[in-house]
Order: sequence, then C-alpha cells, then structure tokens
Amino acid sequence: MASGCHVLALLAVLHVCVEVTGLYGSFSSPGFPHPYPDNQLQAWNISAPVGHRLKLYFTHFSLEPSDQCEYDYVQVFVEGNETLRFCGEQEKSDEGSPRNTVIISATNLLSVVFKSDFSNEERFTGFQAFYTSEVPCETQILTDPSGVLSSPGYPNPYPPMTKCNHTITLPEGFRILLDFSEPFDIESHPEVPCPYDLLRGLPAQSFSDEVIVCGNSLWDPTSGH
Ligand SMILES: *[C@@H]1O[C@H](CO)[C@@H](O)[C@H](O)[C@H]1NC(C)=O
Ligand SMILES: *[C@@H]1O[C@H](CO)[C@@H](O)[C@H](O)[C@H]1NC(C)=O
Ligand SMILES: *[C@@H]1O[C@H](CO)[C@@H](O)[C@H](O)[C@H]1NC(C)=O
Repeated sequence: MASGCHVLALLAVLHVCVEVTGLYGSFSSPGFPHPYPDNQLQAWNISAPVGHRLKLYFTHFSLEPSDQCEYDYVQVFVEGNETLRFCGEQEKSDEGSPRNTVIISATNLLSVVFKSDFSNEERFTGFQAFYTSEVPCETQILTDPSGVLSSPGYPNPYPPMTKCNHTITLPEGFRILLDFSEPFDIESHPEVPCPYDLLRGLPAQSFSDEVIVCGNSLWDPTSGH
C-alpha cells in the first residue's frame, strides 16, 4: 500500500513530511501564529489505530485566496485520493476556506498538505488544525419488546473515543425498563461526576429526567447529575 508521504512525494518535491500518530492532536502551518514563509510544501500524514476514523477541523485559517486555490492551499487526502482543497480566510468566510467543515475519513488514515507560493508578503497567518479519532458505532434502533444492547466488544474493554447511540422505540403505552448486567465498568473519577466516559439515558419524553452514569458497580454507580 502506498503511504501518504510517498504518494505525495510523487506529486511534487516535498520539503517536510510529518508522521502524526495518536488518538487526537493538532498541527499548524510553519511559524504559526506568525505569517507562513514562502515556498513551503509540507505534509502531515495522520494515522490512528486500525478500526478508528479521523475527524479533522480548522480553528484558524488564513491563506492567500486564489481562484481554485492554485497558489497557496491546504489539501486533504483520504487514502491518497485528492479530496478537498482550501485557501482564503476563514474570518472573511471566503468561499474556498474550510469555514465549519469537519472532514471525516472513512479509514484510520488521512493526509494534509500545505503549500505556499513565492508571494505571501507576510500577510496571511496560516492555519491550525485539530484532529480526533473515534471508533464508528452505528446508531442501533431497537423496536422489539425486549432486547440487549452493550458497549462495543462487551465484556471486553470498550475502545477509546467511541460514541454510540442506541435508540429504543416501543409503541405508545409501553414503559422501558433497563436492566444492567455485570460487569458494569465505565471509567469514573472520585470527585468529578463522569468527566471521561459515561452512559447517558435521554428519555424522549420530558416526564423523566436525563440520567448519566459511570463507575464500576451496578448498585452504587457514580451518578452524573
Ligand atoms: C503514513 O505513513 C505510514 C508509514 O510510512 C504509512 O504506513 C501510512 O499508510 C501513511 N499514511 C497515509 C495516510 O498514507
Ligand atoms: C480513491 O480513488 C480510487 C479511484 O478513483 C477509488 O477506487 C478508491 O475507492 C478511492 N478511495 C477512497 C478512500 O476514496
Ligand atoms: C440517536 O439516534 C436517534 C435515531 O436516529 C436520533 O433520533 C437521536 O437524536 C440520536 N441521539 C443522539 C443523542 O445523537
């Protein structure tokens, strides 16, 4: 399989290729928050563990605007395919800027290329990007009068950065009773209610309160609210 850095190296002479691993992180244009230098070509090759997918977004974006972003740009590749190219200024809501775009990769790999031409003239301050990873968990809709739902991989430890939505829908008149089995084990904190991981019950109708739980004992779970 072609690696991001290698594929990109074929497209142009790459000055810097940075390997980025981990569940989340950030990176920015050279010299950020100061204006970026001329003639830069830099790539970030991000990889999360297999089975995760990546989300990428920009908290700052200020690149020289140009038609089709041909001069200065940030380009995002997913598995070596050209996906999106951005330029311009976020603050001015330029058409080519990412604005509130959140890029979600189908796989655990994503590459970002930054290019500047010979004429920044010290005006544009570049970009800052953040990425997070998560294990995709399809929304599960349960409509049978009884059923089972669990965290991914249960009873094995659940993967980090996972958000699952299980929706139980029964005909009107039914009440829903959730019965938890052992082991029940969700990371908790002795003082702060469920700051890391939690199970949140959101009743669709307002006659019942939202419930937030974590902890490792069914009989004494740490209650969030
Ligand atoms: C990043 O580099 C690693 C090691 O060279 C490679 O295995 C991986 O496929 C690359 N990532 C992308 C997005 O191509
Ligand atoms: C990349 O492009 C090729 C050819 O267009 C396509 O077969 C492949 O599925 C694409 N990969 C992704 C991850 O979009
Ligand atoms: C969970 O999924 C259901 C069904 O798609 C949707 O109506 C609900 O808004 C989702 N809840 C959350 C918290 O995302």
